[in-house]
Amino acid sequence: MKLAFLVSGRGTNLKALIAACRSGQVQAEPALVISDRPQAGALQVAESAEVANLLINAHDYPSRSEHERAIVKELDRHEIGLVILAGYQRLLSPFLVGYLYEPRLGQSRILNIHPADTRRYQGLNGYAWALKEGLDETAVTVHYVDEGMDTGKIVAQAKLRMYADDTLESLQERGLKLEHQLFPQATQKVIEELQQLCAAF
Ligand code: GRF
Repeated sequence: MKLAFLVSGRGTNLKALIAACRSGQVQAEPALVISDRPQAGALQVAESAEVANLLINAHDYPSRSEHERAIVKELDRHEIGLVILAGYQRLLSPFLVGYLYEPRLGQSRILNIHPADTRRYQGLNGYAWALKEGLDETAVTVHYVDEGMDTGKIVAQAKLRMYADDTLESLQERGLKLEHQLFPQATQKVIEELQQLCAAF
């Protein structure tokens, strides 16, 4: 199973997932990293880990569909089995979601991690949202990606306790540690599910 990662930011989840592949916790090959932004630190993470990486700059394409077509070409070329959104800050269009749809799974072969409970909050800055709401507890969620914003079927979720003296930095630090555990676990779960489906057909 070959994995491709779509990234836009610093790449701490990417780093954790590559490490999990290399340790055997995730039984897959980290085959390709694609960034939509030239300044994404995740490109350096990929480079240091010697994973093929590409910039497919969204600003170089006249439309979202042209940009996604360029991405699909690379996914095909690398025979990617599962796409991981590891801090990708772009909503996927029905074209890309449909392209990766796996009828045997009833889902697209795309996973995302969200720093909140997707049933309660969708969109950017999930940790800031939890602080603003004054919650005692928030969550991090790994889910399949559909055409909506953080609306896909949940694969795994972990609770994150919040404290009265939490700042955005302290909450984010604990949250990211949890993300780095949950994302590999959830990815391996989905890989096993895909492998079982393939064996059954
Ligand atoms: C994470 O908080 C993730 O939940 C969200 O974007 C952030 C990406 O961080 N989707 P990183 O680039 O993996 O460090």
